[in-house]
Amino acid sequence: MHRKDQICHDDYQKTASWLLSQTQHRPKVAIICGSGLGMLADALKCQDSVPYSDIPGFPQSTVQGHAGRLVFGELKGKTCVCMQGRFHMYEGHSLCKTTFPVRVFKLLGVETLIVTNAAGSLADSYQVGDIMIIKDHINFPGLAGLNPLSGPNDDKFGPRFPPMSGVYDKNLRKIAFDLCKSMDVSQFVQEGVYCMVGGPNFETIAEARLLHRLGVDAVGMSTAPEVVVATQCGMRVFGLSLITNKVVKSYDDTESVNHEAVLEVSKLRSQMLQTLVTELVSRMYIN
Ligand code: 6GU
Repeated sequence: MHRKDQICHDDYQKTASWLLSQTQHRPKVAIICGSGLGMLADALKCQDSVPYSDIPGFPQSTVQGHAGRLVFGELKGKTCVCMQGRFHMYEGHSLCKTTFPVRVFKLLGVETLIVTNAAGSLADSYQVGDIMIIKDHINFPGLAGLNPLSGPNDDKFGPRFPPMSGVYDKNLRKIAFDLCKSMDVSQFVQEGVYCMVGGPNFETIAEARLLHRLGVDAVGMSTAPEVVVATQCGMRVFGLSLITNKVVKSYDDTESVNHEAVLEVSKLRSQMLQTLVTELVSRMYIN
């Protein structure tokens, strides 16, 4: 825990108030777009977009394939805010910086968080290009104490010891699954456990085998911190992983993963993912 990075309620509130002065939109849904999945934000109607560099208190994103702006707008008549580009621990951001936008969204009035990411698969039945509905996660850095909730607790955002069972909303997962059936894409859709690792290197074969034995279906370098913070403050959460590669688990395998391949697959299936999220938002019950 880096005490100098401690962010207080006032800091989140300042950013939220500033954003509310920049747009008429009052989002109930926030969508975090993963690597190569930023085009989701382009589907929003009546857009107002704000580059991260203009937003007081916001971190800056540094990864290729992440645009770095907030987009406000309407998706099927529901007001949303999209993060085009997220913050990762491996960029050197503290976890409270990484998750800063989530608490700002809470103060904007957001009640549902949709997270997307690019991930490598460990489950043998998964194919490259599959979409995994996240059923649960393993927060590896979190288990080791690298947790965005470490440090003094601000009760305004939720309890000191928040439960993390049932994090990924069952109702939304059911709606998404039924949607996939009606879109006739069920053969590309899985439901499984996402594991966050710190990155930025991809896994060794021994690490991949470890994760596989632990019951991990897909592995990536994001999402868990944002979801933990959202859950603590009472948001409903839904998550999707796009399987961009199979994780190498055999010493006989000569293939290895690279970031360009990850972005290539994102492009290929991004349309399906976009349709799925759009239709899900359209069917969501919002207060
Ligand atoms: Cl293979 N590993 C990790 N940690 N993140 C990924 C990935 C693999 N593929 C896409 N993102």
